[in-house]
Amino acid sequence: MKQLLGMLKRPANRRSFLKSGIVAAGAATTGVGLLTAGLPSAGQDLGDRLSKGDAAILQLLLAAEIIETDLWIQYRELGGVEATGSVSQPYITALQQLDGDMPQYISDNTDDEISHVAFLTAFLKSKGQQPVNLNSFFNLAPSKVPGVPQTGRLTNLKKLSVDTSWWGRYRSKENPDLGAKDFPQAVPSLLERQFTAIPRDSNDLNDPNRIQAIADTAGFHFGFIEQAGTSLYATLSQRVTSPEVLRITVSIGGAEIMHFQVWHDKAGNANAGNPAPFIVFDPVNKSTVTFTDLTTNQPELLQANLIMPEPTDFIEGLPEVSIIRPTGPGQLDATGAINGFIADGLFIGQPKAFTELLLDLASEADAAKREL
Ligand SMILES: [Fe+2]
Ligand SMILES: [Fe+2]
Repeated sequence: MKQLLGMLKRPANRRSFLKSGIVAAGAATTGVGLLTAGLPSAGQDLGDRLSKGDAAILQLLLAAEIIETDLWIQYRELGGVEATGSVSQPYITALQQLDGDMPQYISDNTDDEISHVAFLTAFLKSKGQQPVNLNSFFNLAPSKVPGVPQTGRLTNLKKLSVDTSWWGRYRSKENPDLGAKDFPQAVPSLLERQFTAIPRDSNDLNDPNRIQAIADTAGFHFGFIEQAGTSLYATLSQRVTSPEVLRITVSIGGAEIMHFQVWHDKAGNANAGNPAPFIVFDPVNKSTVTFTDLTTNQPELLQANLIMPEPTDFIEGLPEVSIIRPTGPGQLDATGAINGFIADGLFIGQPKAFTELLLDLASEADAAKREL
């Protein structure tokens, strides 16, 4: 016990017992239909089993968590506290322009995602379910920075088109669930072209401006990923039947909200205090990104320190209220979140079968109905 407490106190090793990687989730990849086969239909006594809808929701959330885990591991091995002093130190130093604690936060966010995968996998198994298995899709090339394990990856962080409209959405009084759209982007150029959020090789590390732009891109990508998780869990929770599953989705979903809020606060420090725009050309993707100072002389929809959710329209006829959003169908529900990941460029290089599997899982989750 003493030893465990000692381990918990040391920041770098605080949760090292979780760093066992992605839990192998069964034998072969199975089709979506098979995942929910043999489940009870509506109105049946469920006993210890899951309803079809609850199983579909948890399978989709597990897939999303496996995706999150893969991308966070890539960030951790280059920018996490464990990488301090390694070849990728210029990336860490650049990330610390956003906040001195970025490496620790990156490592902890990664641990959290690993725990989400392990927990959802174990829970599904405990209910007699075969958890979704994406192992056959870990084939994308990792960063070539020395020290990075040259193993196949699930997500591509080198050609991202990061949508930063969540920045304007959380500062606006308008709610996307009530039809509002076209929220201002924090960094419009990030959406228009493709950028890398990790150093691809030593060339990226050795160019001071380029590595700063890569770290700034990562900072906004962190917020993009976690705002999606925030809305996804809240949206699907409304379709859950079992109180136990609801407890799981609101509790893990709460951790996603905490992640989002941290990254929301940090991203606004990109180019802080510099009156001149920070403009960097990436010769590999042949794209130019521009970061402006969001901390000074900005309109309310862009001002960096307005990170608390602005009260917004929510339910017709009732007052504006401070809430996470969107949480309604057709927004960042399962299909919306997966389509958002696809548009983000996370799956560039993956076969069509991969995105089809994800979209199948998503449509089954979105079709779930709360059974009373
Ligand atoms: Fe997660
Ligand atoms: Fe997350």
